[in-house]
Amino acid sequence: MTNAQRILELKMNHALGADDLKALYTTLNAEEEQMLFDAACEARRAVYGTDVYLRGLIEFSSWCKNNCTYCGIRRGNRNCGRYRLDPDEIVECADKGHALGFRTIVLQSGEDPWYTDDIICDIVSRIRRAHPDTAITLSIGEKSRESYQRYFDAGANRYLLRHETINPEHYRMLHPEEMSRDNRIRCLYDLREIGYQVGCGIMVGSPYQTVDYIVEDLLFMKEFHPQMIGIGPFIPHKDTPFRDMERGTVEDTLHLLSIIRLLQPDVLLPATTALGTIDPRGREKGILAGANVVMPNLSPTGVRTKYMLYDGKICTGDEAAECRRCMERRVEQVGYHVVVSRGDWKG
Ligand code: 5AD
Ligand code: FES
Repeated sequence: MTNAQRILELKMNHALGADDLKALYTTLNAEEEQMLFDAACEARRAVYGTDVYLRGLIEFSSWCKNNCTYCGIRRGNRNCGRYRLDPDEIVECADKGHALGFRTIVLQSGEDPWYTDDIICDIVSRIRRAHPDTAITLSIGEKSRESYQRYFDAGANRYLLRHETINPEHYRMLHPEEMSRDNRIRCLYDLREIGYQVGCGIMVGSPYQTVDYIVEDLLFMKEFHPQMIGIGPFIPHKDTPFRDMERGTVEDTLHLLSIIRLLQPDVLLPATTALGTIDPRGREKGILAGANVVMPNLSPTGVRTKYMLYDGKICTGDEAAECRRCMERRVEQVGYHVVVSRGDWKG
């Protein structure tokens, strides 16, 4: 098969074998790249039109009990400024997001045991009561099935937990002994069974990643069929053991966004902050490659610089309202429209 044929196959059947995925990903020329982007945009347009969904991200704690080797807020990083928003501050932040038009609030943090299940449920149910029209997304890491169930019963609708890599050996190279790929995947299946809309995902160009691992991830995601897939380039953080590793590239990230869009036309796919960090027009390029979600930051500006997963993270100085306007402008500039709605999955 030629790459043109592979792209056509993806367009028609939303499927491609491992060997062809690998060949496509590794041998794209400029002309084929444009074909790939166009095919991805067409597939997205058929499901979501030109709508781009906004998610307001609240990073509520930079404390983390984990020590993932790539991450700037890993517990081993003594230079990380730690903060915790209390439940009142989190609810206030969500209120502010709602007033700005956000109808999805994403609550993200390191794995911070200070927030017991009771506290998380209290936060979720207060936001749920105040804003019945708003989707509440949690992104707070690996928990027991019972905990996930409690958050769901309190009113959470969606959960983001990137699997990072489906390959167990690769997983081991990115995480300390006490973490396992199997528990990560167990979490994803529990979340799905409970009734959450689930997001998984990977970093592009993470240390020791091979093209074969990427293909394994693509096939896993195709099979798992999550509602959301978060992918962004790996960017080294100066206070982690991976400080001297190479970052992922814009090109690889864009190609993967397109391939994922074609494999799963109905997926909710963010143009991530990490992509905007390695290229000033990264998020716009992401949308033109098939992404249909952006996640401006709603965290109080005073704490933003402390939630540094990687070096150089953008939008650390801007008020929530500015970020919203800025994203709106960027999205409109490339011919798409920010919509104020929950932006539910259309599968
Ligand atoms: N570069 C890029 N992305 C990172 N993440 C964590 N550390 C980094 C980094 N150095 C991503 C992980 C995690 C998500 C919240 O942020 O994929 O799941
Ligand atoms: Fe935050 Fe542009 S999205 S300043």
